[in-house]
Amino acid sequence: MQVLVTGGAGFIGANFVQQTVRERPDVRVTVLDALTYAGDRSSLDAVADRVELVEGSITDAPLVDRLVGESDLVVHFAAESHNDNSLNDPSPFVQTNLVGTFTLLEAVRKHGVRFHHISTDEVYGDLPLDTPERFTPETPYNPSSPYSSTKAGSDLLVRAWVRSFGVQATISNCSNNYGPYQHIEKFIPRQVTNLIDGVRPRLYGAGLNVRDWIHVEDHNSAVWSIIEKGQVGETYLIGADGEASNLDVVRTLLEIFGRDADDFDHVTDRAGHDLRYAIDASRLRTELGWAPRYTDFREGLAATVDWYREHEAWWRGAKALTEAKYARSGQ
Ligand code: NAD
Ligand code: DAU
Repeated sequence: MQVLVTGGAGFIGANFVQQTVRERPDVRVTVLDALTYAGDRSSLDAVADRVELVEGSITDAPLVDRLVGESDLVVHFAAESHNDNSLNDPSPFVQTNLVGTFTLLEAVRKHGVRFHHISTDEVYGDLPLDTPERFTPETPYNPSSPYSSTKAGSDLLVRAWVRSFGVQATISNCSNNYGPYQHIEKFIPRQVTNLIDGVRPRLYGAGLNVRDWIHVEDHNSAVWSIIEKGQVGETYLIGADGEASNLDVVRTLLEIFGRDADDFDHVTDRAGHDLRYAIDASRLRTELGWAPRYTDFREGLAATVDWYREHEAWWRGAKALTEAKYARSGQ
């Protein structure tokens, strides 16, 4: 099977490619990645001899048409993925997340290629802090940020191409991922690399916002379950019952580093900051028989800390630039 992975040099895509190459000798992988600030060729070093990396944009229609025409399956991870960046400059989010997804859909439609679209739970907006309510596939779309609204738009494009043109596509909406190769602009690796540098973690606002954490390998095993056993045209929510407040996550990290529980700073809150995400993944568990492997969040977090300690060369180059950008917005 020839698989085209868009965004395969980014965090989740690179983990997906590594896992696929490790576990599926019958699959050949081509990665299409624009190698933006978030993409890193070296994230694929471990599998470089088994993977073709094409540097290019998913908005480049002739290139996309050629690569899709050579594939049996497209797994679409490529996106502008960071909420804070989308508040500073939404333009690349519209281009990549909307125009890029449209470009891929036109190509899979033309060549009759199976498509899996990777999306986010943020399309559903947020939930109150103190209810047991969780997102389900029936929750109405209500995105808050330029990032999540362009992801919501891309999901709707996929649904329309399924219904109007019979495109063979599935969609997954996953909660917050953590694990190796995550860009250090994101919450967990930012605090981990701060702590390695002896800098106090930074909590937006009061730190009470809740995210539903899942290890990236569990996200990717769920994606393969959907590709192999999911129903075309359907949406599957991916989550591993990992709700934690940002304050709890920082306290766990401080404990792992042997630092005082109050050794952090509150900084300017994110505009429009979603309060809480929580996923009901029962459909994935009951219909497709999927279950996560990383069920102990502290253990997964400690392993992730070890990974960043052992791979300083992978992240060090981006640290000063990332922190300079946050400093400009008081974060
Ligand atoms: P990332 O920012 O780490 O990686 C994105 C990758 O896409 C990078 O390699 C980048 O170079 C590439 N890219 C960007 N624009 C491109 C373009 N125009 N053409 C080709 N490649 C381009 O993102 P991530 O965290 O790995 O997220 C991957 C996908 O998963 C995204 O679609 C995101 O919306 C979704 N998602 C992420 C999370 C999460 O917690 N990180 C959770 C749920 C869903
Ligand atoms: O829910 C899935 C989404 O999770 C994905 O679609 C996005 O691509 C991914 O980036 C992530 O979005 P979040 O905005 O939830 O992730 P982020 O890592 O930016 O922030 C997580 C929480 O931590 C959020 O409440 C903001 C807060 N935060 C973030 C940073 C960078 C802090 O308190 N301090 C920080 O320094």
